[in-house]
Amino acid sequence: MTREAWLKLSAVVGAGTLVPNNLLAALLADEQLKRSDFGKDFVWGTASAAYQIEGGWNEDGKGESIWDHFVHHHPGKIEKHETADKADDFYHLYNDDIELMHKMHIPASRFSIGWSRVIPQGTGQVNQKGIDFYNRVIDKCLKENVEPWVTCYHWDLPQALQEKGGWVNRDVIKWFEEYVGVCARNFGDRVKNWMVFNEPAAFTALGYLLGMHAPGKMGFKPFWPAVHHTVMCHGAGGRILKSNVKNGNIGTTFSCSSVDAWKDKEINKKAAVRGDVMINRLFIEPTLGLGYPVKDLPVLKHIQKYIKEDDEKNMPFEFDFIGLQNYNRDVVKYLGLVPGLHGITVSPKKLGHPVTDMGWEVLPEGIYRIIKQFAAYKGIKKIIITENGAAFKDEVVNGEIHDPQRTQFIKDYLAQVLRAKKEGVNVGGYFIWSFTDNFEWADGYRPKFGIVGVDYKTEKRIVKDSGKWFSEFLKA
Ligand code: NOJ
Repeated sequence: MTREAWLKLSAVVGAGTLVPNNLLAALLADEQLKRSDFGKDFVWGTASAAYQIEGGWNEDGKGESIWDHFVHHHPGKIEKHETADKADDFYHLYNDDIELMHKMHIPASRFSIGWSRVIPQGTGQVNQKGIDFYNRVIDKCLKENVEPWVTCYHWDLPQALQEKGGWVNRDVIKWFEEYVGVCARNFGDRVKNWMVFNEPAAFTALGYLLGMHAPGKMGFKPFWPAVHHTVMCHGAGGRILKSNVKNGNIGTTFSCSSVDAWKDKEINKKAAVRGDVMINRLFIEPTLGLGYPVKDLPVLKHIQKYIKEDDEKNMPFEFDFIGLQNYNRDVVKYLGLVPGLHGITVSPKKLGHPVTDMGWEVLPEGIYRIIKQFAAYKGIKKIIITENGAAFKDEVVNGEIHDPQRTQFIKDYLAQVLRAKKEGVNVGGYFIWSFTDNFEWADGYRPKFGIVGVDYKTEKRIVKDSGKWFSEFLKA
């Protein structure tokens, strides 16, 4: 164990205390983590999303998305009223960014297609300039030996479709099929790795239940149909990609976190089961052919109303891989007042647990536990960590960004991914969220997740120490 690791160990547990296994594993990772431990087929990359980095929100025929609309019409919902109108200006700087990825030895880049950039009204007329942009991005990636991993939907529904009800309107299934078909036919000759959705639980809950994200809808009334139509689109999108992309590697991604009951009390344990359904099980189970987990969360029976004949047959799809996106662990306690769920998550800050700048608990073992939880489903062939990373406050000092906390976070979580892999789970890749700092939705530009910093006045990129570490790790 390194000196640094010993110091950290003493600081956390104090001299003479027994060291918990997970902490020990994390500390040992300091000196033991090597790229080769993960095997030569393991995929390494960084992840991003169209709205969070591209900018060029109304350029070259792009239509308005629900996020363009949300930030312009409900500025109070975003920290400091910020927008991603320009963001990282990836729309113009993609060449430089992809060259930087190459220089940093990053073998794969996960990014998303902006639906309203390629079909401005969501259905009908295709915008050739939008297609050309993604063609240029894909071709540049291939030229720089950066493998493209493309997400079809990362939360930016065309506003024109939202005006017809968006995810609440069952017609979204046919609109989505049309859109995925356009993506597959235009890019599927060169892009082999696809993800249908990014975190369906997050965009339906934040956008159609809690009103915190675009389109700002609130309540169970819009939420239940949005959930069911998204599940239907999962299957539909998967099938379209499979039949249009030769040798395609077709997956989708889920937000997830391991859930514990507060103080291990019986009443909280029951609340934790319900929390686990909402956080982890709601979308994966119908996708695997297990139906909605109504037994463990009875309020889900309201979805029944939206299930049409044949839907149960069309909900499942056999994905080649399942993307897991994990940042934290959740502690749940009973709270009768919360409709349907009768529980809430307890703030880790209040519990005195270490947190990131998002207020999310840092618990490396959490990623191991959630990998094992998903691996226990029979239908999952392969798991890829399609997002993991941390927001911490950064400071530019003499043109450099020293971010030891972020590097340590990545190392500690990676050690736990390796632990699951060594125990026989088929984990096939790891993507850091994110390559560059970017627009963190309702939190604006404050949380910094990048391993490359961005000066938003000049759009200058600064490779952080975490980026330098990742680059060295990949090179070795
Ligand atoms: C979840 C989302 O996929 C991504 O858009 C977001 O920025 C990160 N995780 C961090 O919150």
